[in-house]
Amino acid sequence: MPRQIEDAIEAIGELKALDGICGKAAALVHRVTRTKVVKNGLSGTWLGHPLHPALSDLPIGAWVMASALDATAGTTGARAARRLVGLGLIAAVPTAAAGASDWSDTYGPTQRAGYVHAVSNTVGTALQAASWLARRRGYHGAGAALSGTGLAITLCAAYLGGHLSFVRGVGVNHAAFQEPVTEWTEVAPLSALSDDTPLKVTAGSVPVVLARHDGEIYALSSTCTHAGGPLDKGTVDRDGCIRCPWHGSLFRLADGKALRGPASVGEPCWDVKIDNARVYVRSATA
Ligand code: FES
Repeated sequence: MPRQIEDAIEAIGELKALDGICGKAAALVHRVTRTKVVKNGLSGTWLGHPLHPALSDLPIGAWVMASALDATAGTTGARAARRLVGLGLIAAVPTAAAGASDWSDTYGPTQRAGYVHAVSNTVGTALQAASWLARRRGYHGAGAALSGTGLAITLCAAYLGGHLSFVRGVGVNHAAFQEPVTEWTEVAPLSALSDDTPLKVTAGSVPVVLARHDGEIYALSSTCTHAGGPLDKGTVDRDGCIRCPWHGSLFRLADGKALRGPASVGEPCWDVKIDNARVYVRSATA
């Protein structure tokens, strides 16, 4: 990344003046997304993949194609370009909703940069809306100019969004780089386990959480896939799931499946065996 861009993004992250508005906006988003169906829908829990980055291809793709038509087809492509601008506007609605849900679970510099990402996208989208209206009234040249300007702002916002994911790790699976442990590994005496009380152990270099529920012993990786929260400090519910203490994601102990967002990726699951009153684990894929 060019140094100047890196410095600019760092400077955005240090804009503590944004914290007041970020806090209020995040609280509002939390209220709107507090139900399981809404949070799962917007997080991509049902898909097994974060939703926002997948959806963002739709408005950006539509607007890029609209501007490409403006540049190459002139008034011949005016009707198609207007449709593409409109399709991008429709696609921007769920894209923004999914992004707001993801953003509401970030903090500090990441949240400030995410806020600027959202405001920039809002401006870019407003320009596309103005473009659509101008095109509808027959002002193709003005519409093309508004679209081009909006697209340029949207692409800058997309760059910032990419930075949030690939540099700051928003939305990435935080358990992705754990090495599987293929050998049975002793991790704890059986006596250390209490019913429905998570216990942190380590297998190789991987933190693992053990939980005994309804007479069965389960093991999952203890680094939450959503943002790295400590599942061993979470709670086990009566349905045999463990809840992350950071943002409330719920994982089924039996197979690690994510049942409530914001996590969209399941937790790595471990095989468990008891031998001579000692607990052994190995990666379930072994
Ligand atoms: S770190 Fe966010 S739900 Fe676990």
